[in-house]
Amino acid sequence: MIIDKLSGNKKIPMHMPGHKRNTALAPYLKRLGADLDITEIEGFDNLHSPNGIIYESMQKAAEVRGAKSAFYLVGGSTAGILASVAAGIERGDKVIVARNCHKSVYNALELQDAKPVFVMPKIHTKTGISGSIEPCDIEDAIKENPDAKLVILTSPTYEGVTSDIKGICKIAHKHNIPVLVDGAHGAHLGFTEDFLLDNIRQGADISVESLHKTLPSLTQTAVCYVNSNLVDSQKVADKLSVFQSSSPSYLLMASIDGCINLLAEKKEELFLAWNQHLEYFYEKCKDLENLKILENDGEFFGLDKTKIVILTKNGPWLSNSLREMGIECEMTTPWYVVAMTGMGDTKEMLSYFASCLLRLDKDAEKWDETDTLGLTLPEKAMETADAKKEEYEWVEVADSLDRISAGYVFAYPPGVPIIAPGEVISEEIKTLLSGYIKAGDGILQNIPENKVKVVK
Ligand SMILES: Cc1ncc(COP(=O)(O)O)c(C=O)c1O
Repeated sequence: MIIDKLSGNKKIPMHMPGHKRNTALAPYLKRLGADLDITEIEGFDNLHSPNGIIYESMQKAAEVRGAKSAFYLVGGSTAGILASVAAGIERGDKVIVARNCHKSVYNALELQDAKPVFVMPKIHTKTGISGSIEPCDIEDAIKENPDAKLVILTSPTYEGVTSDIKGICKIAHKHNIPVLVDGAHGAHLGFTEDFLLDNIRQGADISVESLHKTLPSLTQTAVCYVNSNLVDSQKVADKLSVFQSSSPSYLLMASIDGCINLLAEKKEELFLAWNQHLEYFYEKCKDLENLKILENDGEFFGLDKTKIVILTKNGPWLSNSLREMGIECEMTTPWYVVAMTGMGDTKEMLSYFASCLLRLDKDAEKWDETDTLGLTLPEKAMETADAKKEEYEWVEVADSLDRISAGYVFAYPPGVPIIAPGEVISEEIKTLLSGYIKAGDGILQNIPENKVKVVK
């Protein structure tokens, strides 16, 4: 494993990094594991032209996932998405994009001056949560835009909703269009039958997966898997050299390597334990009366059980109350709270979480399906790049009706733009923004003093 090689390296470092693995220099270096932090020296390979330990490790990752190639990402899935889009299209190309994609996809498209054609996810009737992307909607979009060069969608989403990747790929591939799946939340899928299938085994040309979100690996670690006759994996590698540091952290790469080895050696045992902890949690939560755990009522193609979505009349109240009980959740919206589980969760942690929910359930107002609002597809008045070049002003959300947005507004997490540059602020968008503002400070981004940036 890469970490063993790092530990065995005792040479005097007349090279970067400047701390020289001298952890006596400053206490933080020891605590951060700087004694293993090196750079591309003899015997340690190079992420950007790998032919040694990194190459071998990436080959193993590809094999474990069942893909032709795997590329290590030290800049999160963000780096993989930027590179995959740059590799998959030429400047100015048309791309079919799910509207509920993460901001990294929007940034990637902007950098390539791409022309996005948006496809809306089905909005879940009872909760307003963005649901699955339907293969028939991708088919219609391709029929109307046969010159599109790439399809991009997220599966699973922040809430754990998956789409029929197999069905979507079948349609796109019939037209020789590759499918890039943002699988940032799906690095743990497909290893045992207790969890949903992964994107690559369903036919995705590229799946970009954040190890750090659900598996035992350091923050920023991710893998870009390529399994395609339509995408040149060398092009992806070339673009990754553009978007990733020329000094990638060996701590991060050793973490990815360690995680892949762990999956290869112990997946059955580890996923079995995770699944048992989850089953125990869900069983305990069956007694909830006022809060409700999101279930697949048939409207979603799939729902990843590792994401616990708690439906509530008051998201901020629920997450603040849990915080007071020592639990920090991943995402809060006015209408629900997302608690992410990961391979690192123990039965005790999930048991405590369930008992806190049961205690809070007694004080919670009964959840019902009123008041929930979902993503809507705004009318487009201008191309993103053009709107960004226009003169702008800031206006109160209340005064923004029919104005053209000059910037992105999104809740973070999940980082899905509610409105993008060039889109028109409708009554529904205004209501959605107001709902988030009412829920509290800090949920929406790019909206200082509750004002939106609009074209003058
Ligand atoms: C759907 C989705 N895609 C991509 C990303 C970016 O992943 P990373 O943080 O690993 O760069 C995120 C981050 O939250 C995400 O939620």
